[in-house]
Amino acid sequence: MAFIIDGKKIAAEMKEELKTKVEWMKKQGKEVTLAVIQVGKDPASSVYVGNKKKACEYIGIKSLAYELEEATTEEELLKLVEELNAKDEVNGILVQLPLPGHINENKVINTISSKKDVDGFHPESVGALSIGQPGFLSCTPAGIIELLKRSNIEIEGKECVVVGRSNIVGKPMALLLLRENGTVTVCHSKTKDLKEITKRADILIAAIGKPKFITKEFVKEGAVVIDVGIHRDENNKLCGDVDFDQVEPIASAITPVPGGVGPMTITMLMNNCVESVLL
Ligand code: GUN
Repeated sequence: MAFIIDGKKIAAEMKEELKTKVEWMKKQGKEVTLAVIQVGKDPASSVYVGNKKKACEYIGIKSLAYELEEATTEEELLKLVEELNAKDEVNGILVQLPLPGHINENKVINTISSKKDVDGFHPESVGALSIGQPGFLSCTPAGIIELLKRSNIEIEGKECVVVGRSNIVGKPMALLLLRENGTVTVCHSKTKDLKEITKRADILIAAIGKPKFITKEFVKEGAVVIDVGIHRDENNKLCGDVDFDQVEPIASAITPVPGGVGPMTITMLMNNCVESVLL
């Protein structure tokens, strides 16, 4: 029987802390403003953007919504980002991904000022993390570190295995675990003998993008298992990259889906927005 890491509860605690911080900042005349840009009407993106706006409202962050048409050109989008870069009253800029195919995402990310890069996607933010300098952290991996810390799970000296090497989760996750003095291995789709490696993990991070991929054969007895995935299973029920029913009995701690990593991502975004004011 594993300890269930309650991401919903930890995220709610953090939101209260952030709300108090924002109230205090307002008393000192400092307002936090996030610009949120969505291009097109992708339904999943609309849900995410809606949730981000709601979280802003709850915490007391002012959000400016830019809902642009699908046909918006790259040039127009870059011009808007540059305008927002130049506005002192805008602290954070978030461009919801994915962008329509005719727009180069990297070009857009690179145009956001690294001082307003609350997603932590800009090469300067990623570079700063890789050499141990301060900068914005990618929200999902930063949220996972927070989940571990607030659950009193030590990282230092532990065998940490990250499955997945995306720019948004896997790579920054590995760097953050390393920063916490974990011994880190990154696995991916071309890794040989994956099970042999994941079975060494004291802390296993599953960021593969395949439903219920991590079964009990991948997990050491007593491991801490963090599930980044979110999918619908054959019964249309939400599930993660980990087969929870199989893995939970042998893990010492595990994040559920939903209610694990998910709620932390937006909370860390809010945290980055608050921090952006101090830059
Ligand atoms: N699309 C899916 N996740 C994210 C995210 O964290 N930030 C942005 N900007 N777009 C996303």
